[in-house]
Amino acid sequence: MDVLVTGGAGFIGSHIIDKLLELDCSVICLDNFDQYYDVNLKRRNIEHHLMDDKFKLVEGDIRDFGLLKNIIRDNDIEIIFHEAAQPGVRASVENPSKTHETNATGTLNVLEASRLIDIEKVIFGSSSSVYGKVKYLPLDEKHPNIPISPYGVSKLMAENYCRVYSEIYGLKTTTLRYFSIYGPRMRPDLAISIFTKKALNGKDIEIFGDGEKTRDFTYITDVVDASIKAIEKGDGEIYNIGGNDRVSINELAHKIIDITGSKSKIIHTSPQKGDVEHTWADINKARRALGYNPRIDIDEGLKRYIEWYQAIE
Ligand SMILES: NC(=O)c1ccc[n+]([C@@H]2O[C@H](COP(=O)([O-])OP(=O)(O)OC[C@H]3O[C@@H](n4cnc5c(N)ncnc54)[C@H](O)[C@@H]3O)[C@@H](O)[C@H]2O)c1
Repeated sequence: MDVLVTGGAGFIGSHIIDKLLELDCSVICLDNFDQYYDVNLKRRNIEHHLMDDKFKLVEGDIRDFGLLKNIIRDNDIEIIFHEAAQPGVRASVENPSKTHETNATGTLNVLEASRLIDIEKVIFGSSSSVYGKVKYLPLDEKHPNIPISPYGVSKLMAENYCRVYSEIYGLKTTTLRYFSIYGPRMRPDLAISIFTKKALNGKDIEIFGDGEKTRDFTYITDVVDASIKAIEKGDGEIYNIGGNDRVSINELAHKIIDITGSKSKIIHTSPQKGDVEHTWADINKARRALGYNPRIDIDEGLKRYIEWYQAIE
């Protein structure tokens, strides 16, 4: 199978590529090595595949429609995992236009090129940020979408493009709403990476607000599993991909301090704009339709992540 992974040098995309190559697919990784975080980390995420005949890296931008079309046509692409994005709620509050161009317009480009070349399917990595204001918990896919950050708005718009392309043009799409993904290679701007680094260096761990916001954390191997299952299933649908539990940010910091045996103290600073109050996924729809079954709970996942982090630092 010939597969394109946009954003393939990033955290989630690079893990999907590992799995696809293991399954003997031919993979094109399209990534513009955006400088949102250290590009050396992104190069390291894929360097172990550079000598593989079944892997090809294209350094380019999903906002370049001509490039996308050529890549899809010239490589007989059948499936696209669309992971390229400007992630981060805070980045979107600082620069909403870049978030919109990458996440909304970029996704439209991917869909339009896919329609014109008539590919099999697009699997889109969306976000729990599309829910925004919480009306009830856990969040099922019917929960209202009231995003509270430009990032959430951009992902919701991209989801809607996927749905409309599916309904109007018959392009198969599946949207996976990710809930706070973590694990080896995770982005350095996310709470678990920041807290781990501070804990291992004995520095104060800063929590925005009172720390009672809760998050449903999902381990990366479970996300990869859901993504692969979506190749064959879930056409035209949206699924929550969560870890099946939630912890408060205070609990999270304490768990990391315990695992690392750190002497770090926790300090609280002012809350950040755009951060949702709680996330907690109802994953029953994905269980039923995709056979999704998250296996790694937060204690095991943190242990694995911290071991990996200590090995590479
Ligand atoms: N990590 C999470 O917790 C999480 C949660 C919800 C949703 N998501 C979504 O999952 C996807 C992957 O996220 P991630 O955490 O791996 O982020 P990441 O930043 O590690 O990966 C995204 C990759 O896309 C690339 N990219 C950015 N703009 C691009 C462009 N214009 N053209 C081509 N490539 C571009 C970046 O260089 C990066 O390598 C994103 O769509 C993100 O919105 C992630």
